Amino acid sequence: MPQVLEFSDVVVRRNARDIVDHLDWEVSDDQRWVVLGPNGAGKTTILQLADTLIHPTSGAVTILGERLGRTDVFELRPRIGFASSAMARRIPAEETVLNVVLTAAFSVVGRWREDYEDIDERRALRVLAEWRLEELADRTFGTLSDGEQKRVQIARSIMTDPELLLLDEPTASLDLGAREELLTLLGGYAQAPTTPAMVMVTHHVEEIPVGFTHVLLLREGRLVAAGPLAEALTAESLTETFGTPIALREEDGRFTARAAR
Ligand SMILES: Nc1ncnc2c1ncn2[C@@H]1O[C@H](COP(=O)(O)OP(=O)(O)O)[C@@H](O)[C@H]1O
Ligand SMILES: [Mg+2]
Repeated sequence: MPQVLEFSDVVVRRNARDIVDHLDWEVSDDQRWVVLGPNGAGKTTILQLADTLIHPTSGAVTILGERLGRTDVFELRPRIGFASSAMARRIPAEETVLNVVLTAAFSVVGRWREDYEDIDERRALRVLAEWRLEELADRTFGTLSDGEQKRVQIARSIMTDPELLLLDEPTASLDLGAREELLTLLGGYAQAPTTPAMVMVTHHVEEIPVGFTHVLLLREGRLVAAGPLAEALTAESLTETFGTPIALREEDGRFTARAAR
């Protein structure tokens, strides 16, 4: 399977501290990764590297076969989808749902070109339907619930048919119903054969959708464990990652964790 991401001895140094500390990591196109770790572990920084937004201080990052620093990121970036709350804050509240998704085709936030190709509009409507947003196409982004806004962000990041999809805490701040609805959609998407490689950041094992295959556990910029969920996600690796004794349970492909007794 072709490599989508390759991190080789990657360091990101900020204020004399290695916030990513000699990380080796490989993602191939049939894998769906969850990145887990406490606040400040470096999860968002890793997604920013994978989205070409920052460069490593040392080491090599290769994305879709292109080595960061030796390639034109403006050609690479349209091949990557990225949804995060930082990005959502830049979406104008008065923009309609259809336009938020449609304008992704031009890699801009906000509508600037009036003569959209029909094909873009048809694709946008199909993506909206896939993420259960078709009824909301004409609503403005600012009037949506948190859960609906998250689905719009993901729909927007998928609109360009990316070869790599990055999601930074897509289920954060959602109520139980909205979280479960989104996890069901993410799980269905993750299991579809045409879906690109995915990397999803979260704080909670409860938020790992069914269909995700691999996990990267990070603590203070360092890799604690990485690999297939069944091997790398254990009470021991979670205990080391979060620095407190954790017990882990799995049921029907979903996980729960709590303090070990
Ligand atoms: N530009 C920056 N300058 C200084 N410190 C930073 C910068 N970006 C991130 N950090 C620090 O690096 C650590 C990792 O950040 P981040 O990747 O956002 O963690 P996470 O997403 O896992 O919570 C944090 O301690 C954060 O404060
Ligand atoms: Mg973060």
